[in-house]
Amino acid sequence: MHRAVARAEGAFAVAVVHADHPTEMVGARLGSPLVAGALPEAGFLASDAPALLGHTRDFCFLKDGELIRLRPGQAELWDAEGGKKEAQFTTVPWDPLTAERQGYRHFMEKEIHEQPQAVADTLRDQLWAPVDLGLEKEALCNLDQVVLLACGTSYHACLVAEYLWEPLLGVPVRAELASEFRYRQPALGARSLVVGVSQSGETLDTLMAFREAKARGARTLAVANIVGSALTREADGVLYTRAGLEIGVAASKTFTTQLVALWLLGLQLARLRGQLSEQELAAQLDELARAPGLVAEALSASERTEDLASVYHGSKDALYLARGILYPMAMEGALKLKEISYIHAESYAAGEMKHGPIALIDEEMPVVFLLSETELLEKSMANVEEVHARRGDLIVFTDVDDPRLRRLTEHVVLLPKAPRPLVPLVFSIPLQLLAYHIARLRGTDVDQPRNLAKTVTVE
Ligand code: G6P
Repeated sequence: MHRAVARAEGAFAVAVVHADHPTEMVGARLGSPLVAGALPEAGFLASDAPALLGHTRDFCFLKDGELIRLRPGQAELWDAEGGKKEAQFTTVPWDPLTAERQGYRHFMEKEIHEQPQAVADTLRDQLWAPVDLGLEKEALCNLDQVVLLACGTSYHACLVAEYLWEPLLGVPVRAELASEFRYRQPALGARSLVVGVSQSGETLDTLMAFREAKARGARTLAVANIVGSALTREADGVLYTRAGLEIGVAASKTFTTQLVALWLLGLQLARLRGQLSEQELAAQLDELARAPGLVAEALSASERTEDLASVYHGSKDALYLARGILYPMAMEGALKLKEISYIHAESYAAGEMKHGPIALIDEEMPVVFLLSETELLEKSMANVEEVHARRGDLIVFTDVDDPRLRRLTEHVVLLPKAPRPLVPLVFSIPLQLLAYHIARLRGTDVDQPRNLAKTVTVE
């Protein structure tokens, strides 16, 4: 196996059993994830820890080039050079019960409702005790740029951080799609901070872009959900989301926990850089502590999404519009709808509507508008009027009870008011539920949508 693995090229994870040695199994990986479990009666190998939860909660996450031999009650590990080392096992705090639907119709529905708890778990311990970011104060004070790297839904969480962090940190902050960033010969150096954001910590594009950033001398942090995953092992420091196990392929609780974790991280960075006094920080953390309650309120305010879904589940297209910090939520709302209901959906910054998408609007086009009093309210209101004037079929999610809106459409969902950094969190809930109920009524495979994977470990 050592010789074979040394010669193999590309990304792989392999498990080998020999007919003459049926109680022994050898595994190795390069690029693709591989996780091992060892019990007195058997050894297990899988690409992902959740697959083994029915058997064990103690996992050895293999690194690239490592080789493991499992025999009942025994695990032996070798590094890429053939040197023997101790197999380290980590206990994941997941209950096997999480891997059951517990009365919900789909895992995604259950995971959407678990969000108040997941957000609370993410903030607990980490809210008041500063997380050790593994970076010295001097490096943080000398930063000249911050880059957030991610794919898919995690990228949308990074876009929210881009809006929130830049005024807070006073340096350019940008969110980048890892698959593009990686090949762009980015200008990075020792004064750059690169934050990789990934639920799994194993998405290949994110990992490779992260490695590229490290090779160019950037300081690095990871925000991840899976303890011990590749991204967390390679970063200077880690902040974990504590969403627990998410089985639905389309992200829900792992996204909202990223939103709170990134805001918490932004506040910590600002404090370390001396841009927030202890009082300002305490005031912000007090507001952040309201997050679980706000998510719970948003869940009850979102009951109406079920009725909306019964009206709109036959639609062919949808347009999602918003401004400011809600624009990334429009992107995420459209992505959720595409992923699980297979309805074509596009998102646009509402101010860009006049440069193209307005041509798409007629009475056949459902337009989901996200409107908050914290985000250019009057300008957004003017955009809503424009959609109405073109006979667009308006659905408005809003935290302002404005009679003007009710005159324009009967489909207004009123959401709880939140401090500005938590507005995206509140709005993400009805967007998930709308997509979920539409997909359910269309009879798609909500938890395992066609062509999609939970973790993409190939390019
Ligand atoms: C896949 C999943 C998405 C997820 C993306 C990034 O495409 O289907 O739900 O957002 O990967 O995953 P990550 O684990 O890096 O957050």
